[in-house]
Amino acid sequence: MIPVAEPHITAQDIELVNEALKSGWISSAGKFLDLFEERWASYCGMPHGIAVSNGSVALDLAVALLDLAPGDEVIMPTFTIISPAQSVVRAGGIPVLVDSNPRTWQMDVDQIEAKITSRTKAILVVHIYGHPADMDPILEIAHRHGLIVIEDAAEVHGAEYKGSRCGGLADISTFSFYANKLVTTGEGGMALVRTPQLAERARSLRNLCFQKKQRFLHDELGNNFRLTNLQAAMGVGQIERMEAIVARKRAIAAAYTDLLQDVSGIQLPAEEPWAKNVYWVYGMVLDDSCGLSAAMLADRLRERGIETRPFFLGMHQQPVFQRMGLFRDENYPVAERLARQGLYIPSGLTIADQQIVAVANAVKECLQ
Ligand SMILES: Cc1ncc(COP(=O)(O)O)c(C=O)c1O
Repeated sequence: MIPVAEPHITAQDIELVNEALKSGWISSAGKFLDLFEERWASYCGMPHGIAVSNGSVALDLAVALLDLAPGDEVIMPTFTIISPAQSVVRAGGIPVLVDSNPRTWQMDVDQIEAKITSRTKAILVVHIYGHPADMDPILEIAHRHGLIVIEDAAEVHGAEYKGSRCGGLADISTFSFYANKLVTTGEGGMALVRTPQLAERARSLRNLCFQKKQRFLHDELGNNFRLTNLQAAMGVGQIERMEAIVARKRAIAAAYTDLLQDVSGIQLPAEEPWAKNVYWVYGMVLDDSCGLSAAMLADRLRERGIETRPFFLGMHQQPVFQRMGLFRDENYPVAERLARQGLYIPSGLTIADQQIVAVANAVKECLQ
């Protein structure tokens, strides 16, 4: 099987983890944690980084910083992983959904304004599959309505919007460092924030809201969202290698695009003139007219030894939210088509050039 993604672990990563182990700093304090937070925040152009155990709790933390009252609304794309929506629901808020742009698969910025009500507190942008969302109109709308903007940048390490890195474009951003991400710590995440006040509150919420003066006196309920120094050690060297990592991801994508661009019946990933796509995954969407669903193509590719993953299923189509009475009778045709007709093919950092050719040939064969 050619896997959709495998982590690329280098001798330097192993050496740094060993150094952390030998130092005895194996829990959530230590020099690698400080370095990881400082270097990732600085790479993204934000002043403060708060490392946490995964990307989902980074979103829990970011949403906690909004101080939502029950029933407050957060606008977000329906086409996303469940993490951002569940963070809002668990904080007592209501996700308010918008459909996707059919070219870029990012949230459709033209649908945002009509969804704003007196209860709207924030826009939670989820950059999808390596390409940035169109941030300027989002920031402009947010500014006009006094809304906070959170970027879920889990899938866009190193991607750029008009020359600025994703995760550094709004008030708060979050990242995942799961094994399939460009930078990985196995499990891991981070929230980036702009102000020292937010940073301090986020650090407190990450660590059970222990207090500085009297440790076991609690003013607020926090969580244990801590990352270990061991995990941070694994990530530190990768930040230095980001240029090479992004270049390899873009080369993999360019090779696929070269091999597949003339195949009729499929839409390949876009790169808008204002965007630098890092192609976290290499997605494709089958035309309805080609008579094949993504699930059928996935079966055919599996028979040929190629692993794929389906695209996200929209939040409005999730039974768990429908049972809560959310999104009843809402339709988002673009996201529904992406879920039905979209999948992604192997594009991890360890894929060999011959494997790219083999995957592209298999896709062509399956579509004939
Ligand atoms: C956009 C997005 N947000 C959040 C997450 C959750 O991250 P984690 O798996 O580290 O909890 C992911 C995971 O892939 C993601 O793609």
